[in-house]
Amino acid sequence: MMVMEQDRASPSVDWRALEAAAVDAMKNAYAPYSKFPVGAAAFTEDGRLVSGCNVENASYGLTLCAECALVGNLQMTGGGLLRAFYCVDSAGNVLMPCGRCRQLLYEFRAPGMELMTTQGIQTMDQVLPDAFGPQNLEDPR
Ligand code: THU
Repeated sequence: MMVMEQDRASPSVDWRALEAAAVDAMKNAYAPYSKFPVGAAAFTEDGRLVSGCNVENASYGLTLCAECALVGNLQMTGGGLLRAFYCVDSAGNVLMPCGRCRQLLYEFRAPGMELMTTQGIQTMDQVLPDAFGPQNLEDPR
């Protein structure tokens, strides 16, 4: 049987389900200003699915990225850490999280967390190398 690259990298992650959840989430986006709907979805370490969409504001700089909604959803539905992440644009294409959102995801990463990226599956550490994080604070969580 042919082993796909994807399976080799992470046999336990259903990336297709994650993609579908991200596309579903994207359909809830409120993006009247940019007209750039975004959806994000992730599996938690304990197997839950969390998702989010971008929510814009007339005061443009207050826009919430899809990842903001996702981490809020994570915290509101039991907390925990993220195992795998997928973000899409309106066409369903993989979208790289913006710099700020990489930091948001970093905070809640499970060890070895993976992201679907435009370069294929990558780890959180590859997407945000040498990250600042809780480990840099005097009283880490
Ligand atoms: N956006 C996200 O939701 N996540 C990202 O990682 C990149 C950008 C949203 C913010 C804004 O509503 C729209 O995409 C255009 O920047």
